[in-house]
Amino acid sequence: MKRYQIYFSPTGGTQTVSALIGDAWDDNWETIDLADPNAHFDSFSIAPEDLCIIAVPSFGGRVPDTAAKRLQRIQGNSAKAILAVVYGNRAYEDTLLELKKVTSDRGFTCIAAVTAIAEHSIMRQFAAGRPDEEDRRQLTEFSQKIKSNLESGQTAADVTVPGHFPYKEYHTIPFYPKADETCTKCGLCAEKCPAGAIPKENPSSVLEQTCISCMRCISVCPTHARALSPQALRETAQKMEPLFRERKSNELFL
Ligand SMILES: Cc1cc2nc3c(=O)[nH]c(=O)nc-3n(C[C@H](O)[C@H](O)[C@H](O)COP(=O)(O)O)c2cc1C
Ligand code: SF4
Ligand code: SF4
Repeated sequence: MKRYQIYFSPTGGTQTVSALIGDAWDDNWETIDLADPNAHFDSFSIAPEDLCIIAVPSFGGRVPDTAAKRLQRIQGNSAKAILAVVYGNRAYEDTLLELKKVTSDRGFTCIAAVTAIAEHSIMRQFAAGRPDEEDRRQLTEFSQKIKSNLESGQTAADVTVPGHFPYKEYHTIPFYPKADETCTKCGLCAEKCPAGAIPKENPSSVLEQTCISCMRCISVCPTHARALSPQALRETAQKMEPLFRERKSNELFL
């Protein structure tokens, strides 16, 4: 039996949550990185006895399209899956329901689902520092509970998760990071961009039609040359602030 952590985590929050959900087992997890633009997703075939954690962030209350399309290339073969949706303390809306549909269509069996909060990757003042100590303790508890249910054969055949169908329409936040004159043209952002939106020959620019606003280029740039317009960011954050005020809790569905 193999164990896989399959995640789309442009800025690392989802990967951290996935690791915490895997905490009750030993470290022997293989990784499938859905943000890797060069991975051969069709070549992964999971065996029926395998266990997977499948984790995505919520983008506008939905599964990021890039992640959904890559998941649709992996064969689940009835393997057990723990689904996880990570969001920036506003709301995850239909993301978990959509993730369940995408993965069950590929043959995965959802035996548990988790929602968790991580720092907002665009407006970093929201959910700053999360998952914090309290979140980590809670997610480790979830991990132990899922493992003990699995070992005692108590997992549900089909876990019910919240969300509505048809899913809410996806509205992109039009935030496209560009580089300033401190860009050394090292090309790292172009190599790591999950969507292929940064031209290798001109990495300080961005193809706005292709960019999914995931913020990975900002987080990988070694010279901090990439950024969003501070004014646009400030104005959006000011408008949205009431939606972030209340601390949201992690949830476990069994
Ligand atoms: C394009 C985009 C849309 C987002 N939409 C939402 C949202 O609808 N609700 C929310 O609470 N957080 C939202 N977030 C915040 C992310 O879900 C959160 O920061 C998550 O931890 C990012 O995952 P990562 O660190 O693995 O990249 C959004 C972030 C991005 C980049
Ligand atoms: S990672 Fe930063 S320095 Fe390197 S090419 Fe991209 S923007 Fe320029
Ligand atoms: S260019 Fe857009 S899609 Fe590519 S890493 Fe940056 S924010 Fe993400």
